[in-house]
Amino acid sequence: MRISFLIALPAIFFQSIAWGQSANIDRKVDSVLALMTLDEKIGQLNQLSSDFVATGPITPDGDKQDRVRQGKVGSYLNMTGAARTRSLQAIAMQSRLKIPLLFAQDVIHGYRTIFPIPLAEAASWDLSIIERSARIAAIEAAACGIHWTFAPMVDIARDPRWGRVMEGAGEDTYLGSLIATARVKGFQGKGLGSLDAVMACAKHFAAYGAAEGGRDYNTTDMSLRRLHEVYLPPFKAAADAGVASFMNSFNDINGIPATGSSYLQRTLLKGDWKFNGLVVSDWGSIGEMINHGYAADMTDAAKKAITAGSDIDMESRAYAGQLADLIKRKEVNESVIDDAVRRVLRKKFELGLFDDPYRFSDEAREKAAWNAPEHRQAAREMARKSIVLLRNDSIKKISKPILPLSNVSGKKIALIGPLVKAIGDNNGFWSYSWPDDSTRIVSLWNGMENKLGSTKNLSYAKGCELTGSDTSGFAAARLAARRSDIVVISVGETGNMSGEAKSRSDLKLPGMQEQLVKEMVATGKPVVVLISAGRPLVFNWISENVPSIVYTWWLGTEAGNAIADVLFGDYNPSGKLPMTFPRSEGQIPIYYNHFNTGRPFKNDTDNIYVTAYTDLRNSPRYPFGYGLSYSKFEYGKIVLSADSMSVGGSIRAKVTITNSGTYAGEEVVQLYIQDVAASLVRPVRELKGFQKIRLAPGESREIEFVITEKELAFYQEDLRFMAEPGQFRVFIGGSSAAEEGISFWLKAR
Ligand code: GLC
Repeated sequence: MRISFLIALPAIFFQSIAWGQSANIDRKVDSVLALMTLDEKIGQLNQLSSDFVATGPITPDGDKQDRVRQGKVGSYLNMTGAARTRSLQAIAMQSRLKIPLLFAQDVIHGYRTIFPIPLAEAASWDLSIIERSARIAAIEAAACGIHWTFAPMVDIARDPRWGRVMEGAGEDTYLGSLIATARVKGFQGKGLGSLDAVMACAKHFAAYGAAEGGRDYNTTDMSLRRLHEVYLPPFKAAADAGVASFMNSFNDINGIPATGSSYLQRTLLKGDWKFNGLVVSDWGSIGEMINHGYAADMTDAAKKAITAGSDIDMESRAYAGQLADLIKRKEVNESVIDDAVRRVLRKKFELGLFDDPYRFSDEAREKAAWNAPEHRQAAREMARKSIVLLRNDSIKKISKPILPLSNVSGKKIALIGPLVKAIGDNNGFWSYSWPDDSTRIVSLWNGMENKLGSTKNLSYAKGCELTGSDTSGFAAARLAARRSDIVVISVGETGNMSGEAKSRSDLKLPGMQEQLVKEMVATGKPVVVLISAGRPLVFNWISENVPSIVYTWWLGTEAGNAIADVLFGDYNPSGKLPMTFPRSEGQIPIYYNHFNTGRPFKNDTDNIYVTAYTDLRNSPRYPFGYGLSYSKFEYGKIVLSADSMSVGGSIRAKVTITNSGTYAGEEVVQLYIQDVAASLVRPVRELKGFQKIRLAPGESREIEFVITEKELAFYQEDLRFMAEPGQFRVFIGGSSAAEEGISFWLKAR
């Protein structure tokens, strides 16, 4: 049809431009490759870290610059700053072929302006603001000479003992996949070559978050079906979003270290998924295959890694030391090296570095991006939206909740606890400290002072340290509380207690903090507890005895302002937990989309022959998707457009939500689906959709979800992804504990 052809013409035309560019770059890559010696090719696969920031075990080894000058280094990490990168790039320009260096950095949640840790951002369930957070991080990083960020971390994690839960998007595959896409788009912006875009890196491929015991770097072992159903989709989403690179992971998976896994890197990523970007190892993970007992020595490690598809060697020096001999002994075909080098050179061409190696190392642009006020405003908005209100019950004294603080008459507020005046902790792990942090990062104290305009109605007592057994500060805390109308206590972990190599077996508040909270409650004053951490913690006494509890994660540069915005009601909290909060470490792994088992636990029976603990309730302390508001959201009955759908069809689920509270607020309306009976046991429910809506007081709105086969499909035994006819249940509500459910049938073809 003429019209459709005409419509198609521009698309074909633009596609041909894109293809033309790609074909043009491939031709350039091949022309450079043809000039390279074997040593120069291997050099492109060698990544070193500068010594000035260590994010792994540094091997100080003298003058790395000479290796750059000889064309023996292809990329550098932990080398940032327009001036510093320009000077190292100038050394690379002294090499025979003048192939520019790539500069990489862990820009995980901001660079100059620090945003909330990624797990906190995930609690916002706001994909556009999460994308903007990554966008701003890219703008600042790219202005400081960085070409490549080792983010987003897209590891699904169901175990809060694992310190790196702070770095991802939590336990849910559906939410994690959407957030992976948003972050890749944010980092890469309009595409590589733009001066404010950086290469993103989906990591850690794969299943690093499934480490046994929640112990970092530990073994992972699972069925291929679980791997495909739970852990791979966020990586596939990143690949589909055009992520420029992948990073493999430290863990062994099903008996093979991910770094040496051909299944992951060749069969799946570069094969089925047709990924044409590059794969970088994690820090030293190639050499660590010896520790795994998978490689006999560095030669064996280099051979297994390059053969399996790990293109770049980060800091194990295996490729630099072993690849040339492996080629000469014909144990590795040079075509394997050529493929890896092509992937590296292609990115350098796409970034425009062959045209101008210094284009990202521009001190004027660095200065202009360095203190952009709009970045801080965005960080404050992201932080507010990441805060989760866990409890806000009415108290007898005022017959309403303490929050927002305007509810409580009397102005004197006692700020108590070791985190009230914390500065650097607010940035959390994987952040950068700058000389002016003490005046730039907004502590809780600063934020409250900013909000009130002065400190005349504020008092402060640290009460205790974050760790240790000293309670000598309690007396001053009690005094401050008694002289005030309201007590706000800020407790939690240190900013570095969650992160890499930070697994904890005990998730309670460290030190004497819980005791401090008890002392404050004992004064009889209205108490609000703020908990800052990079992971779900266990705080049962507080949960049961403190009427107002706010989870404030680590919120970055604007932390104090964002918390004050919520405490005073200038922002009505809307965050929803991206991870299940356990009552005890003994429940872990605990996650919402579990299987029912043959003897499911039911609250309404004293039958002991059910899947339960004899010493603890089965339910989590707070479920996935949970979070309160100053508003009150009520859900009507779910209405389906039909009671069955045919294959290839769809069904619409509608529900009306009403804000029966007195505050305007946002609610994340969540859609969960259960496949009641299938050829494999299916989770009791799975998140398959959500909409974040804003309702004025008294306002009602009908929300509609369209359910298609895609929402019903799952990986079969043979890994085909398909839906099976049968009964399904739909639940819609404000958390994964939504009770409002209704059934429909998927009819056979
Ligand atoms: C670390 C981390 C990885 C990071 C890399 C470079 O060990 O596992 O996420 O990107 O090394 O810092």
